This record gives sequence, C-alpha cells and structure tokens, in this order.
Amino acid sequence: MQETQEKIIEKTVDFVQNELKDAEGGHDWWHIYRVWKLAEHMAEAESADLFIVRMGSLLHDIADSKFNDGDEEVGPKKAVQFMMNLNLDKETIEHIEAIIRNISFHKTFEEKKFDSLELRVIQDADRLDAIGAIGIARAFNYGGHKNFKLYDPGIEPDLYMDKETYKKSDAPTINHFYEKLFLLKDMMNTPTGKKLAENRHAYMENFVNQFMNEWEGKL
Ligand code: ADP
Ligand code: NI
Repeated sequence: MQETQEKIIEKTVDFVQNELKDAEGGHDWWHIYRVWKLAEHMAEAESADLFIVRMGSLLHDIADSKFNDGDEEVGPKKAVQFMMNLNLDKETIEHIEAIIRNISFHKTFEEKKFDSLELRVIQDADRLDAIGAIGIARAFNYGGHKNFKLYDPGIEPDLYMDKETYKKSDAPTINHFYEKLFLLKDMMNTPTGKKLAENRHAYMENFVNQFMNEWEGKL
C-alpha cells in the first residue's frame, strides 16, 4: 500500500537532511528548505501539482555534480532509488527524475529536453534562492569555500562561457553576479517567479553598486 503523501514528505525530509549533512553552506539542507517552502507558495499561485513540486524541490540537489567530480548521474540515481523504495508509482518517479535532471543552471547551455509546469515552478524557486540577500550570501560563501577572490578589477566577467568553462571557472565572486546572478531575473519561467525576482534583483544591484563605490574608497 502507498503511504500517505504527508508521511512520504516526512521521510523525504529525513533522507535529504542526512544526504546533505556535510554540504557547503550555500548548498545545504537550508537551501533545500527555502526552495521547498517558496515553491509550495508558488505552486498554489501557478496551480501546479503540489506533491510533485514538494518532492522535486526536496530532491533537486541531493548530489550536486560540482561536489561529485562533475558527475551528473549521482543525484538523479540516488533520488530514483529512494523513490522506488517508497513505492511511488512509475509516472511520478519519472516526472521527478526529469525535474532533477533538467533544473540546473548549466542545463541552459544545452538544448531543452523536458518541460513541465512543476519543473518551471521549482526552477524559479531555485533561481530565486540564488538572488537577493540570500543569493549574495550564498555566492560569497561558495567563493570562500573555493578560495576565490572577492573581486579583481583586472579580471573581466566572461559572458560567453560554454558549459565546461562555466563549471571550471575560478573567477572572483563579483564576476559571478555578471555571469549568472544578474541574468536570472529575465530567465524566470512563471509570472509569480518574474514578480518575486524584481525586488531581489534590485537589492543585488544596490549591493554591487555600493561594493564598487567602497572598492574605490568612495565615501
Ligand atoms: P545550479 O545548481 O542551478 O547549477 P549552482 O549550483 O551553480 O546552480 O549555484 C548554486 C549556488 O552557488 C548559487 O547561489 C550560486 O550563486 C553559487 N555559485 C555557483 N557558482 C559560483 C561561482 N563561480 N562563484 C560564486 N558563487 C557561485
Ligand atoms: Ni538548488
């Protein structure tokens, strides 16, 4: 017999918390928690399937390829195995697997292979967590984790990176704002996502302006 959806969500939360217990601060359980909660609100506004959105949000980042020697198979495979143990039906498992495989930013370098309203909602929630105040904190945390420079006026942002260069980049963290974070507002899929991105985007722009002023010793 299939367990109730609430019970399944509870088990998934436990599983994800355990998988991410040693994760870097910007990719940890609390990133998942924020995306999960935001995506739930957005799913309502967008009339998306709530169970798929909740499960997809919870499972979308359990093994980021950045932290698995570039291997993009680890996350989807672990998630599918977990869902099979929960006895979810085949169609649900396949939909959630497709979401996990297609949500990531570097997928935008490839031709789009899969689309669903639930993917669009979760992708927006994931991208919203990469901008705004939290986005700034996550970027510098990631940069610190990798020992990137904060900023180097001699290293220009590279707006035309291919996927492999993007994944290998060790540019200063400020460049990441130009290479990715400032682009996300216009990449939102849903009307709700577009609206929520505006404030967060403006907040980040202010931050980078202030940062540049302070860099040059302007009071
Ligand atoms: P996705 O999971 O969609 O591929 P990422 O994993 O690249 O997205 O981004 C997750 C978080 O890590 C974001 O908050 C992002 O800003 C941060 N991050 C990723 N790459 C860099 C980088 N080169 N410099 C600073 N922060 C980064
Ligand atoms: Ni994510």
